[in-house]
Amino acid sequence: MAKSGLVLYSALALLCSCFVFTQCAPEKAPVTQLPGFNGSFPSKHYSGYVTIGPHHRRHLFYYFVTSERDPSKDPVVLWLNGGPGCSSFDGFVYEHGPFNFEAAKKQKSLPRLHLNPYSWSKVSNIIYLDSPAGVGLSYSKNSSDYQTGDIKTALDSHTFLLKWFKLYPEFLPNPFFIAGESYAGIYVPTLAVEVANGIDAGVKPILNLKGYIVGNGVADEKFDGNALVPFVHGMGLISNDLFEEVNRECKGNYYNSSSSTCDSKLTKVYQVIVGLNIYDILEPCYHGPSTRKVAASNDRLPVSFRQLGETERPLPVRKRMFGRAWPLRAPVRDGPVPTWPQLLNSVSVPCTNDEVATAWLNDKAVRKAIHAEEQSVAGAWELCTDRISYNHDAGSMIKYHRNLTSRGYRALIFSGDHDMCVPYTGSEAWTRSLGYKIVDEWRSWISNEQVAGYIQGYENNLTFLTIKGAGHTVPEYKPREALDFFSRFLRGKRI
Ligand SMILES: *[C@@H]1O[C@H](CO)[C@@H](O)[C@H](O)[C@H]1NC(C)=O
Ligand SMILES: *[C@@H]1O[C@H](CO)[C@@H](O)[C@H](O)[C@H]1NC(C)=O
Ligand SMILES: *[C@@H]1O[C@H](CO)[C@@H](O)[C@H](O)[C@H]1NC(C)=O
Ligand SMILES: *[C@@H]1O[C@H](CO)[C@@H](O)[C@H](O)[C@H]1NC(C)=O
Ligand SMILES: *[C@@H]1O[C@H](CO)[C@@H](O)[C@H](O)[C@H]1NC(C)=O
Repeated sequence: MAKSGLVLYSALALLCSCFVFTQCAPEKAPVTQLPGFNGSFPSKHYSGYVTIGPHHRRHLFYYFVTSERDPSKDPVVLWLNGGPGCSSFDGFVYEHGPFNFEAAKKQKSLPRLHLNPYSWSKVSNIIYLDSPAGVGLSYSKNSSDYQTGDIKTALDSHTFLLKWFKLYPEFLPNPFFIAGESYAGIYVPTLAVEVANGIDAGVKPILNLKGYIVGNGVADEKFDGNALVPFVHGMGLISNDLFEEVNRECKGNYYNSSSSTCDSKLTKVYQVIVGLNIYDILEPCYHGPSTRKVAASNDRLPVSFRQLGETERPLPVRKRMFGRAWPLRAPVRDGPVPTWPQLLNSVSVPCTNDEVATAWLNDKAVRKAIHAEEQSVAGAWELCTDRISYNHDAGSMIKYHRNLTSRGYRALIFSGDHDMCVPYTGSEAWTRSLGYKIVDEWRSWISNEQVAGYIQGYENNLTFLTIKGAGHTVPEYKPREALDFFSRFLRGKRI
């Protein structure tokens, strides 16, 4: 207690002392209380808008949580969720934010917030950014800005960072990392290359980029598109016979089938796996309280079965997992990418419920507390929006990864190995395809004295890592393990 008080105090001293030199944390940015939370914050929180573009018309919203350990030395991490169109409050509310949100017992009342013992703010200063404009609490005064794509998003996020670090110059010397999940598998490397080029060109302020982190990320049409069949075979979801048939007809090319016999085998595969929760094949699709009661009351099931899907998080994982990636038959191709609400007109997603974040972020008092505009200005907060039209115009990410890793930036590519949405088999294959020498051969890694997954290390500081038993949003399923590998990677320690 005393120690963390001291850390906080010195952080405060640091924050204040820099007013002498330059404008520091913006005056209106501190968040001092949050509806639903009674205690005191373990570290400083700030939030607000950074405006960019012509006439400052694009308003990008960030929520910044300083480190609970040593904010002056710990890395700064930018966090991005995917979609495209999904808010980074997904990460804040459901994955690795400072609070666990407990749903209200009564309808229409606000969730209760508890401290999250596995918050990534335990070891880093973390910026949650809603990007591009139109997503989450970010908006534009001119709706033509809602037509966007990979390239424009990366440029805007770079501009955001330059402006953000001018507002918070005391964090410029800290090691800086860019991190994200799912479609942020595109956002992260495209932005990192912009930042790296800016550093080389002497663009001020000079950011201290050290590396980047991608979880269950989209990377390449071919590798990601070919990943499903080997995944479902390895997981025991299709028979060995069907695997051999589909392999014989498609010859390993599943992403871009060129024959009707291959198509018909693929259809058979899809028919077999229908009904699974694609974001975590171990989780039931509906896992509301009623499902849990049935499982719990069945005494003949071994305890381990009755506890399937339970995590150390005090609250169950979400029922609604929509919005973080693609349905099985719509891989990421060049050109317009449908947002989730657009897709849902034709597809029914049975596991739906994310009221907690929606209720909280649309509440007037919450918006006021976090310095966000009201709904009349910024619009309603949605986990994933269809306000934007998004073009995938950056192509495969492989050239970006090759570029960044050969320039000395450290990369962690991690996969929850039970995610069927962006299966680990694709990420494992594309990282291997770079042709880098293996310097740390496939081995288990340990968290809480247990095997937590597998790791393969490559030259050029590229690491591929799996988290055993985790789904698409790793920290949501395996919060302790996620904090462990995150913190070891940031410190440059062996994972
Ligand atoms: C906050 O504290 C008050 C008084 O101690 C209590 O009545 C209320 O239920 C608490 N609320 C939450 C969200 O914990
Ligand atoms: C909105 O932006 C577009 C493209 O930059 C521009 O042509 C148009 O005039 C703008 N509209 C308004 C109302 O400013
Ligand atoms: C599909 O695969 C063929 C080879 O089988 C290749 O020539 C073609 O370019 C591929 N199409 C796409 C969209 O990648
Ligand atoms: C990385 O890409 C930039 C342009 O975006 C280029 O200038 C640079 O030479 C590339 N570096 C490597 C090592 O490929
Ligand atoms: C790997 O990362 C370490 C620590 O940042 C750095 O010292 C080293 O130069 C990097 N190695 C390569 C090959 O980039």
